[in-house]
Formats: sequence, C-alpha cells, structure tokens
Amino acid sequence: MAMKLSVNNLNFSYTDKTILKDLSFAVAEGEFVSILGPSGCGKSTLLNVLAGILKPQGGQIQIDGVQTSGVNHQFAYMPQNDLLFPWRTILDNVCLYGEIHHEKDAVRERAREQMARFGLEGCEDKYPAELSGGMRQRAAFLRTAMCDADIYLLDEPFGALDVITRGDMQDWLRELCGSLKKTILLVTHDTDEAIYLSDRILIFGTPGEGIRREFTVTEQSRTREWLYEQGELRAEIYRVIKR
Ligand SMILES: Nc1ncnc2c1ncn2[C@@H]1O[C@H](COP(=O)(O)OP(=O)(O)OP(=O)(O)O)[C@@H](O)[C@H]1O
Ligand SMILES: [Mg+2]
Repeated sequence: MAMKLSVNNLNFSYTDKTILKDLSFAVAEGEFVSILGPSGCGKSTLLNVLAGILKPQGGQIQIDGVQTSGVNHQFAYMPQNDLLFPWRTILDNVCLYGEIHHEKDAVRERAREQMARFGLEGCEDKYPAELSGGMRQRAAFLRTAMCDADIYLLDEPFGALDVITRGDMQDWLRELCGSLKKTILLVTHDTDEAIYLSDRILIFGTPGEGIRREFTVTEQSRTREWLYEQGELRAEIYRVIKR
C-alpha cells in the first residue's frame, strides 16, 4: 500500500523538554489513524510540527515519498481550539483560507455548496456566538475541509460536545471520510471514538517515549452495537495508556 505520510526519526524539544524523540510512523493513503495518549504527552505538538507551525530539530516528514518542511498545503489542520473569529460570519470564517490564497469568489461559491453537507444550511450569515458548540465545530471543520488538502490533522475536533452530538458528529465524520477518501490523523481522548472511527490506533506514552503500542481495527461495518461489544479492546487500550 502506498504511504501517504511518513515520519522518520522526528525530534522536537521545547527549550527545556524533549517531546518527540526519534519518532517514526507511516500512514497509508486513505487510512484513518487515531492518536491516543495521556494529557501532555505531545499529541498537539506532533500535529503542530507536521503542519509546519513548529520546526523539528531533526528527522524527516514525507508526503507521497517527497520530503516536506514548513507549511505544506497537503495538510489541512484543525487545531485543538476551533478559533472561529467572532466578528466574522460563518461563511466568512469558512472562507478564510481561500481568501488568503486570493480566490475569494470561487471559494465562497464552493463553501455555499458545502454548507448543507456539513449541517450548516442557513447559517451562512450568522455569527459564531449564534451557533451551538457542535455547529461551531462543524464550521471549523468545513473551514479545514475547504483547504482541499489530502491529509487531515484533527486535534480533538469533538472535544467539548455532549455524548449525543458527539455521536452524530462521529457518524457524520465517518460518512464524510468514506466519500471524500482523505487520509486522517485524529487526536482524541475518547477510546470509543478511536475504536469506532479508526483503521489503526497509536498509543503514545510519556513525552519522548513515542508510540507505546498500536492496534489495528479491521471491522468494516461498524455500528454502535458493534462498538459496545469491543470491551476487550477498550480494556486493553486502557491498560496500555495507564501503564
Ligand atoms: N510552547 C510551549 N513551550 C514549552 N512547553 C510546551 C509548550 N507547549 C506545550 N508544552 C509542553 O509540552 C508537552 C506536550 O504538550 P502538548 O500540548 O503537545 O500535549 P498534548 O498531548 O496535546 O496534551 P492534551 O491531551 O492535554 O492536549 C506538555 O508537557 C506541555 O506542557
Ligand atoms: Mg493537545
């Protein structure tokens, strides 16, 4: 299988603390990979390095076998906080990146077409404060999707949602992935979310430890009932994180 993303011996330290030490992993084209691990282990730091916001002290990042450094438009990054601008309407927020790339009219047209698919029909002219938390996260997600990138970096995109909205969003993301055929790297604290959505789950350990274990999920036809039956996998993941 072709590797969409390869990370080789990646190193990153903040002045006083090593976070990523000789980290290597690869993600296949169209694969959905989740990253689980304790708070502070370096998940957001890794996504920031991949997105080119933080510069690694060593190692390589390759997309389709080609080395990349700095900001690469093949990555669509949804950071941990949604960061919608409160003074901009939803449509203006969604089109932000397109405006930066000077293709305003075409991007607005495309965004309008996508609003319904993202459950945001009729919200074009509203402001973030007028939307529910779930709608705001979908708006932030649509803004990310508007980048037209192949690889999505999602940092707890459904972080602060109630269990029902979260479940709806997970179903919606699964459907979206099936139809858009993107390569996904999802950071989450929610074991069930990782099991339900992923082809592979990477468990990160303490800062600098890297990947402690990886789990492959092969089931294709996933339902909530199937998820509830994954007790053994859930328990094993918990044990590995807790160790
Ligand atoms: N700008 C910074 N300068 C110095 N240390 C930082 C900085 N940002 C994060 N850290 C530290 O690096 C470690 C990893 O942080 P990071 O945000 O990547 O963790 P995380 O795994 O995403 O955690 P969480 O699950 O809580 O979001 C933490 O110990 C954090 O305190
Ligand atoms: Mg984080």
